[in-house]
Amino acid sequence: MKRKTRNKIIVWTLALAAAAILVGGTIALVLTAGTWKAQIKKSQEKICNKGWECSGSKYCCNDTITDFFKVYQFENLFAKRNTPVAHAVGFWDYRAFITAAALFEPQGFCTTGGKQMQMMELCAFLGHVGAKTSCGYGVATGGPTAWGLCYNHEMSPDQTYCDKTYTQWPCVEGAEYYGRGAIPVYWNYNYGAAGDGIKVDLLHHPEYLEQNATLAFMAAMWRWMTPIKKNQPSAHEAFVGTWKPTKNDTLSKRLPGFGATMNILYGESICGKGFIDAMNTIISHYQYYLDLMGVGREHSGDNRDCAEQLPFNPSSPTDDQKQQQSGS
Ligand SMILES: *[C@@H]1O[C@H](CO)[C@@H](O)[C@H](O)[C@H]1NC(C)=O
Ligand SMILES: *[C@@H]1O[C@H](CO)[C@@H](O)[C@H](O)[C@H]1NC(C)=O
Ligand SMILES: *[C@@H]1O[C@H](CO)[C@@H](O)[C@H](O)[C@H]1NC(C)=O
Repeated sequence: MKRKTRNKIIVWTLALAAAAILVGGTIALVLTAGTWKAQIKKSQEKICNKGWECSGSKYCCNDTITDFFKVYQFENLFAKRNTPVAHAVGFWDYRAFITAAALFEPQGFCTTGGKQMQMMELCAFLGHVGAKTSCGYGVATGGPTAWGLCYNHEMSPDQTYCDKTYTQWPCVEGAEYYGRGAIPVYWNYNYGAAGDGIKVDLLHHPEYLEQNATLAFMAAMWRWMTPIKKNQPSAHEAFVGTWKPTKNDTLSKRLPGFGATMNILYGESICGKGFIDAMNTIISHYQYYLDLMGVGREHSGDNRDCAEQLPFNPSSPTDDQKQQQSGS
């Protein structure tokens, strides 16, 4: 080989090696920078502490419920609850609501998104509560929407709602599992699950939900924040839009919004049946509260109803009875 050629080869080899090192180095640098960035982002994710109401979570960095929902507003939304004809006089109050909410605000309950979304979620949750505890149907002044929190339990249950086929939460001798609470709980297995959720033995003591308003609100908020089944959204996630519908959901017309919360909580007893009264009345409570809170019903959000949605959890014909039941 000629010397010149050999030198050329050496130069080329060196050049290639240098290039390889350069490229490799750049890739490594980019990768390191990437993980760095991720790490920095993680350590920069702000966590806030707002005392007893909200601590140790990014959600606490936003306003908390007491910043935008005061006693007078609670009194305004549930104005008729302590009139003599109401059925739970003296039971429900603002303090119980806020005490219960403090457990769920760090998880994003009414602390997700901006101020408007937070107020919308409050109205959505209370819309369910108001509709399910109203006693104004047909009777009284102001219409049903003015009569939220009129009940704290089902008035004349015609059964004990004990389903013996659910062995995980077997009925306790003497306990009755009729509807109680802010979003009424029915059946032994629903009391069992809610009790596990809020760490109170509701299976042995279902009566707690008509004796203690804080517990009644806690059970309702737990239901709102917890998916009925794995891989399904909670009502909270469906409402604030952190839930991404699957293709099956889209085909079933299930999209984020107030409509999906009714689908999750009540399924086919309310949804997929057109604009039936049972659905409309829940929506009217939601919108009544939006108006009273100054958000305005024009901000009800997309997909407000579930008139055409297929249920998340269709029941087989034989377990019609097991569906979470509505109304007091
Ligand atoms: C807090 O509020 C801001 C808007 O004010 C919103 O962009 C942000 O997503 C909220 N934080 C959380 C954790 O939801
Ligand atoms: C209601 O339940 C809460 C939460 O467990 C408890 O702190 C409170 O003392 C109870 N109130 C009454 C009157 O028993
Ligand atoms: C799709 O939705 C329908 C109706 O809600 C349901 O019966 C079916 O099991 C769902 N399929 C899947 C794969 O989730």
